[in-house]
Parts: sequence; structure tokens; C-alpha cells
Amino acid sequence: MKTSYKLYFSFLFVLLTFSLSSAQTGEIFRLDGGNSTYAFGVNERGDLQPLYWGGRLGAHDSIPPAHSFPEMASFDSPATTTPQEYAGWGAGLFTEPALKVSFADGNRDLVLHFFKIASSSSNSAEIVLKDISREIYVTLAYSMDSESGILARSASIENREKQPVLIEQAAFAQWTLPPAHYTLSYLTGRWAGEWTLNQEPIQGGARVLESRRGSTGHQANPWFAISREGGRDTATAADEEHGEVWFGALAWSGSWRMTVEHTQLDALRVTGGFNPFDFGYKLKPGEHLDTPIFYAGYSAHGLGGASRLLHHFELAHILPQAPDPKPRPVIYNSWEATEFKVDEAGQMALAEKAASIGVDRFVMDDGWFGKRNTDHAGLGDWYVNPEKFPHGLKPLIDKVHSLGMDFGLWIEPEMVNPDSDLYRKHPDWVLNFSGRPRSESRNQVVLSLARPDVRDYIEGFLDKLLTDNDIAFLKWDYNRNWSEPGWEQVPADEQKRVYVEFVRNLYSILANLRKKHPKVEIESCSGGGGRVDLGILHYTDEVWPSDNTDPFDRILMQDGFTYAYTPQIMMAWVTDSPHWLNGRSTSLAYRMLSSMQGSLGIGANLNHWGDEDFATAKRLIAAYHSVQKTIVQGDLYRLMNPRDNSELSVTETVSNDKGQAVVFAFVNATNKGRGFPLLQLRGLDPTAEYKLSWIEGKSWPDTPDTASGAWWMNHGIQLMLKGDYQAAAFRLDRQR
Ligand code: DGJ
Repeated sequence: MKTSYKLYFSFLFVLLTFSLSSAQTGEIFRLDGGNSTYAFGVNERGDLQPLYWGGRLGAHDSIPPAHSFPEMASFDSPATTTPQEYAGWGAGLFTEPALKVSFADGNRDLVLHFFKIASSSSNSAEIVLKDISREIYVTLAYSMDSESGILARSASIENREKQPVLIEQAAFAQWTLPPAHYTLSYLTGRWAGEWTLNQEPIQGGARVLESRRGSTGHQANPWFAISREGGRDTATAADEEHGEVWFGALAWSGSWRMTVEHTQLDALRVTGGFNPFDFGYKLKPGEHLDTPIFYAGYSAHGLGGASRLLHHFELAHILPQAPDPKPRPVIYNSWEATEFKVDEAGQMALAEKAASIGVDRFVMDDGWFGKRNTDHAGLGDWYVNPEKFPHGLKPLIDKVHSLGMDFGLWIEPEMVNPDSDLYRKHPDWVLNFSGRPRSESRNQVVLSLARPDVRDYIEGFLDKLLTDNDIAFLKWDYNRNWSEPGWEQVPADEQKRVYVEFVRNLYSILANLRKKHPKVEIESCSGGGGRVDLGILHYTDEVWPSDNTDPFDRILMQDGFTYAYTPQIMMAWVTDSPHWLNGRSTSLAYRMLSSMQGSLGIGANLNHWGDEDFATAKRLIAAYHSVQKTIVQGDLYRLMNPRDNSELSVTETVSNDKGQAVVFAFVNATNKGRGFPLLQLRGLDPTAEYKLSWIEGKSWPDTPDTASGAWWMNHGIQLMLKGDYQAAAFRLDRQR
């Protein structure tokens, strides 16, 4: 037996002894939803202690009460050995705290004990904690989704002291998992290289995932999944479709941090919230800080099951159109075709071509406003460029409408070029420390959105833009991260609140615009996928996952993306070949099928297309429209993943009523004459009959046209697919 388990079992023994000898039983809170149960209780010291998180327990099962763990030698006191729901930094806590504060008198010890139940039901609770002597109250909110079992947790920290208190670190929630061997999955990236799925065994120490950039960032995404590995008699190793997985995501679009900690006593804790780096939130007497939400859930069906739960949860509870968001319109976007060279005639010509292939929405990208001919000037000047659009936007919008499409427009409201009228008028409106340089990136600086006047300016011009023009969609871009984040209009000891107030103001603008212009839909873009999280997704209908539109790279990135986010929000444009980034040449059909795995768009220069291209795109857009809801809102199964230099990749999506399945298969290189492996499908109704129709490609001769779900899942289908960068797609439709 490994030492760590000896330790664990000795704890269990102590717990048992406590239970038998002590008559004291604390409060127990139990939440049930979907296939999971979450429980915590109050131990004899008054700590709020996690008790259980995993598969759903029987309705009448009792949960043993909480008992604090003993000291571990003289080095780890019960504050460290006992897991807590939300640990204050104090009393000998050496593991990651949820909350760290400094009091006005220099005291920095914070020990949070159960104070009262503010509310409680079978799937929600509000529990108030209080410091053992100071007037600091923390209300922990829990709400479990009855369908998915995904739990929403947040904290509200209130100062009822007579002096201000400085919050130096505040998590949205902490999670504790039972001792076992685990694998951590997390997503990292960079510009044009987002959504890399990393997987590694969790060993002693801490793995920190974070953004210090003021926004979510490309560098890492605030999502994690932890799969249970074999190694214990009772444990089953988790993989794509089997085994236990715990997962979570932060609903916050500012600097964030998640710490996955395998403590020195082999406990596993995940702490996530505001990034404590450069953080400081002063709470005056009577003030409170409400944290955003940390969502987390449990699946007994591997990473695939975990991502399916998240997808359905996002569709049903996170997105602005929840619980029934419409599949995204197929868009055309002019960026890769024209860059900044937009004008009325050029956009109208592209719109005509886009309409001819079945596009639903025409989006004009950067370059339509101010003196915006390159990325050196114009940001901040949100008037229509009179040389490019002498009659305003109306003629173009009318033309787009007459072609049966709606109209969308690119904006980047939080930024300004120093070469702009706005900056010349308000040079003080940007994030900076006075007397210090203002570092530019892409020739732009960040507006100080924490300022109320900047907030009002942005909301004002956007409101006017949407009132004056018939705009159905905004692509909301954000093309750099923060530097020199000074906010000098408030006292020095309040300036670090910028990390919170900036994002709150962004959310409030988005919320107000949506209320005033309820038909307008919004995409979150940040030079690609730099602002994708469950916070922004509460206000935006879709995201731009990456500026990298290479169809082969995208297959891999889409694989990573969908571990955390639903394909409904994953915009995917078909662009030109050879691709500008990698120089890779691919067929239009391959590019179309790669993009059809998400929410399809076209971003190619249609002026360069021939008749055959138009015909291929028209045929595949029509095919996409007929199965789109299944692709973007169904159950996603990754039959073959494209990671680790795999030559193959296959996804299958099954509609929620199991009436339809859509399969995409890709081969990037056939080597040594290998045939495409047999595909055994998943998630179908075994007793129903399904009819096979090809969207692109074909199966081996003698494949039945119609067969039972059991046949497609057990016998499987053999594709005829080989070559370099080849793709196939088919659908199965239930017959009876
Ligand atoms: C970055 C975006 O990701 C691109 O799609 C495009 O909109 C450019 N900005 C425009 O400047």
C-alpha cells in the first residue's frame, strides 16, 4: 500500500473513531441534481467542510457528519489537514486560501466559521460564514442544476467592521475531490494557436492556470477537468467515454487564476477566482464584494460525458438566448477577403455572391469607420467613414436585406488608437500610470473602462449605432491585453479595483445594449479566442475561437474547444487556400467539412471563386442547414481524436431525441496503404432503424442503406476515405 493511502486510511480511522465517540453532529447540507450529489457540513470546530462530491446517492442515504481532521505531526495543523469549503488565510493554513484579507490595524488572520443558514433547499443553499472575532461575513451561494448536476458556486464578502478591509485574494469557490490518482486536463494556447488540450498526471504540488492580462486570454482558458485514474482497487480509470470526471469553469472575463493542488497530505483541491496577482479590493465599512460564479460538475462517463453535460448546460442556462438558443445563422465575413479595404461597392459585390450560396448573415469587419485604413489609426472614432460609405451604412444594409440576409458589423469598443480624434480629445481616458510610458500593441491602447465617463461613452455610441442602423449582429473585438493598468481617478488604495470594475462595466454595457436592442446578437472576439469564458457567454451568442482558419489546424483546435464549450458558439469560417498562415493547400470540400463541425461561416474572397466553388459551397451550406441543429446542439462523441499527431479524426453528433446523427471524418495523411478504420457509432437508439445519406464521400459497397442503431454501433460502417487532407460526412436519420 502506498504511503499516501496509508495516511488516508489512518484519517478514515480517526474519523470513524470521532463518529463513534462523539455525540456532536453538525449541520449537513446535501444538494442533488442530474446524476450527482454534493454534500458539506459543519464540523466541531465550526469549519464548513466538504463531505461528498460524486455520483448521485440514494434519496434516503445518510451522509456521515463532518469532523475536523487531526494535526499531522507538529507541522500541519487541522486548518491545513481539514478541507474547507471556503478557507480564510489564518490559523496555520498552508494550502491555498479562498480568501485573504488585511485589516486596517495590521491583523491578517482570518478564520471563517459557520454563522448561519440564509436559505436552503434540495438543490440550493446560502450559508453565511463569519470570522471568529471580526465583522467579516462571507455568504456562500450554491445552486445545483437539476438536469446536469452542474453546481454554481459564488461568494459575497461583506465588511461590517468600522474600518476598511483590503481583500488581497478572493476565490469564487474551492472544490475538494476524494483522494485518488488523477489526470488533469486543461486548455492553453496563444494567438492563432488556441485550444491545446494538455493532459498530465496530478502529482504533489500545485498546477497554476491563469491570466494576468486583464481579460480571459489566449494563454490558458478558465476550464479544468480531472479524471480519475486506476490504481485503487475500487477506482476505474477514466477515458473519453468511461470513468469519473470532475470539471469546472469560471464565469469571469478578467484576470483569473485556478490552482489545482495536490496537498502534502494527498488531498486534491481546486481553488479558482480573481487572480491575486496585483489584486487589491478595498472594502469600506458596509461594502461587499460579490464574486462571479465558478461552475463545476461530475460525470461518470469520461471526458466525453463531461463535455456533453457542459454543452447542454451552456445552451440551457448560460447563453443569452437560453434555454433555447437558435442555431447561428451561416455568416459571410469580409475580413480575410478585404482586410481594411472595405467600401460600399466592394461589400455589395461580396454580399451578392454570399447570398447566392445560401449565406444568412453578411458581416462587415474592420475598416468601415473613422480614418481606419490600417491598424494605425481610427479606433475610437465610431462614425462611418465618408469616403468609403458616402451615404452612410444604409445603402449597404438595404442591399444586404434585399438579398435575404441580415447585417452584422465589427466593432472594438474598449480600444483607441493614439492617432484618433477620441484620443486627441481624451488622452486621459486610457489605462496608464501618469508619467510612465503607455505601451502600444497593434498601435492601440486600452480605454479605462472602469471610469464611469468611459463606460457611458461606449454605451452611448453603441446605442446610437444600433438605433440609427438596422444591425442584427455585432462582432465585438478586443485586440490586445493590458499593460500599465493605472486608474488614477480614484484614490491610490482603490486603484487595483480596476481588475473588477472594468469587467463589470463591460458586462453592464452588454446587458443594457441587449435590453435596449433585444434583436441584436453579439460575438465575443479577442484577436481570435482571447475572451471565451462562461462570464462573457452570458451576454454574447457566439465566439470567434481563433484567427487561425487553417482547416487542418482548426480540426485540432475545435477538438480542444469542445471540451469546454458547445459547438453552437464555435464560429468556423471557410477561407482561402493555400492558407495565409501555414501555406497549406486544401480542397474547398475539406475546408467546408472542417468548418461544418461548428457554426459555419464563409470568410473566403468570393471574387476569386469559380463556378465549381460556388456550386460546392451552395450544396454543402444547404446540407449543413438541414442538419445544423444536431451538429451544434446534439450530443458530441469524439470517435477518433486528432491529438498526438493522429492521422485521423472523427466526430459524431446525435440529436437530443436520437432521431439523427451526423458524422464528420478526416484523414490528413494516408500512409502505407492503410484503410480508414471501421467506425462504430455511439449514442443511437439500438432498436430504431436509421437511414444512411452521404453529405460528402461514400462507404464501402454492400453497406446497407438502412440498418438498426445496434448495427451502426456494433457492426459499424467502413468509409472509403484516403489521401492527404480528405474528408467525408454522412447523416443517419431514424425511420421509425
Ligand atoms: C481580429 C479578429 O480576430 C479578426 O477576425 C478581425 O476582425 C481583425 N481583428 C480585425 O481587425
